[in-house]
Amino acid sequence: MTAGPDADTLKPLLPPLAQQRLQSLRLTDGVAVLVLDVGGLDSVERERLEAAVKDALAGAPGVSEVRVAMTADKPRRRIIAVGSGKGGVGKSTVSTNLAIALARMGRKVGLVDADIYGPSQPRLLGTEGIKPKARGDKLIPVPTRWGVPVLSMGQLIEAGKAIAWRGPMASNALGQLVDADWGDIDTLVVDLPPGTGDVQLTMLQRHKPTGAVIVSTPQDLALIDAARALQLFDVGQVPVVGIVENMAGYMCPHCGEVSDPFGQGGAEATAKTLGHAFLGRIPLDIAIRQQSDAGTPPAAGDGPQAEAFATLARRVAAWLDNQ
Ligand SMILES: Nc1ncnc2c1ncn2[C@@H]1O[C@H](COP(=O)(O)OP(=O)(O)OP(=O)(O)O)[C@@H](O)[C@H]1O
Ligand SMILES: [Mg+2]
Repeated sequence: MTAGPDADTLKPLLPPLAQQRLQSLRLTDGVAVLVLDVGGLDSVERERLEAAVKDALAGAPGVSEVRVAMTADKPRRRIIAVGSGKGGVGKSTVSTNLAIALARMGRKVGLVDADIYGPSQPRLLGTEGIKPKARGDKLIPVPTRWGVPVLSMGQLIEAGKAIAWRGPMASNALGQLVDADWGDIDTLVVDLPPGTGDVQLTMLQRHKPTGAVIVSTPQDLALIDAARALQLFDVGQVPVVGIVENMAGYMCPHCGEVSDPFGQGGAEATAKTLGHAFLGRIPLDIAIRQQSDAGTPPAAGDGPQAEAFATLARRVAAWLDNQ
């Protein structure tokens, strides 16, 4: 990328590495301004490159001064997939609130609803009926009040229309959501569809999540399902961040006391047995369901529910920072 006929004559004078790394070159009133991509180079290599560029252009026709600007590679956008072995355990609820809690920590977070057969995110985020626009062939995620833009099949097609789609069509549709124009988003939370079938596996293999969060309820059966989800991520070669126990203990809306209709600690024990981290407990709390249904995610509030999601988000963020 060069600008102007004078600038074009300068490019061949540059050392090969600078030519490869050149993002732009302008020559204005004798001042040559170069922008180089120095991603992956250490500080010594950068200094050497800058010196070589200045040497090469010093005394070139029309050049009285050389300025070099350096840009590093953009950090890689990281995907956190939220999955479970079976339906209805709270993947979508956890995805929404994890995304919002991460955003409250200062991360730039986007949310993809990959459950193209039964999308939930438009309802959970209060964006029902809002259609995303496109720029070129890329979709532009829909902004939300919570600072977490979202893309969901539920925003693109009428409810229930995707039900007859086969694997490849479903995977292509998901590709449009993941590869959208996400701007400077650094973390993409993906709410996976229930189950551990081929569609899920294709999604994982194609979009290579950095890590997976597994949602489980405390019951024994759900834990067998969690083990199945672990196997899916294993086959897809997606590292597991850990297991979160949802609907763990019932928080009485009247007295605030927590009781354990389904037992407690099952997911933690399973995580330990299977050698995975335990990411925390989200209580079974009617306020979570009510606020979720109303499109006002509990993680955006100030109650104890927000704190449970904040704890989960801190653990996921710490894991990401270690990658
Ligand atoms: N901790 C919780 N306390 C109370 N209700 C909850 C909690 N977690 C989820 N729910 C409720 O349980 C129902 C199922 O949750 P959700 O839709 O998040 O599950 P899912 O795993 O995404 O389901 P699916 O497999 O259908 O995609 C919803 O009505 C939701 O509001
Ligand atoms: Mg769901």
